[in-house]
Amino acid sequence: MTERIWFNGRVMPLSEARVSVEDRGFQFADGVYEVVRLYSGRLFTLDEHMARLERSAAGIQLSLPMTRDALAGEITKFSAGLGPEGSACGEGMIYLQLTRGISPRNHLFPHLTGQEKVEPTLLFYFRPLPTLPPVGSVPGVKLHAVPDERWQKCWIKSIALLPNVMAKSAAAAAGADEAIFIDNGNVTECAASNIFAVIGGELVTHPVGSKVLGGVTREVLLKITADSKLAVRERPWTEPEALAADELFITSTTREISWVSHWNGQPVPPGRPGPITQQLHTALKQYIRSAIGEA
Ligand code: PDD
Repeated sequence: MTERIWFNGRVMPLSEARVSVEDRGFQFADGVYEVVRLYSGRLFTLDEHMARLERSAAGIQLSLPMTRDALAGEITKFSAGLGPEGSACGEGMIYLQLTRGISPRNHLFPHLTGQEKVEPTLLFYFRPLPTLPPVGSVPGVKLHAVPDERWQKCWIKSIALLPNVMAKSAAAAAGADEAIFIDNGNVTECAASNIFAVIGGELVTHPVGSKVLGGVTREVLLKITADSKLAVRERPWTEPEALAADELFITSTTREISWVSHWNGQPVPPGRPGPITQQLHTALKQYIRSAIGEA
């Protein structure tokens, strides 16, 4: 099956898309990205992803080349037209990337060198993903702690992911699945996911900001919990608190909720998916079904 890509407004085979050597995304990681989930062929939380894309772009002084709504429309049209490649099971993701475009190599923004007409490079394509089983029926995630050596603008979903790539690769080398960043003793987030703890009956997660991306899954969970009796504290928390937490889980668009079984090779409580983790995954699945019109 030919994989296709939406590339600067044209749909073409993915293998034929070419980015210039002087694309600023390639030379400076001067760009931002999004990962949007498709369930049963339907886009989940597309508006939230478009809003974050616009925020991330504004954070690097870049404008979207079309309105947010027009872009959402293009993604929706592309997804609907995926055919067997996308709709065999309809489960997957859209990877979207926006860079500042092609310009002779210069650290300065192109408009500062007199080049007004640099068009951003905008592309997106589909990748299938397996349907995720309930959180209770899968092995837990093994986390490996690394110092948070990233920049101070982690709320921007930047394509400059080398620290994340190195952290996740170090985690894999240590026999773990995901890296957990520790910033001055505080647990911030993982290489490609947010993290939550249940501590004393409360749900705790680090606030979004310099060291934490506003994950869309995180946002959805906070919305779900706002309607429940579960108290939520967005506050810094430490590695010792994590190790003594009643439950730990991580969240992202691609993994929804995964319970944490190990931290630096040591088992962490409760040694199985905790009750709140399971309840929240059930609630998230329900929210997804209703959002895509299946409930
Ligand atoms: N990563 N924190 C980081 C550093 C991330 O890269 C991600 C997502 C998240 C969770 O955000 P969301 O719930 O919106 O997916 C948190 C994506 C999935 C990726 O890079 O593939």
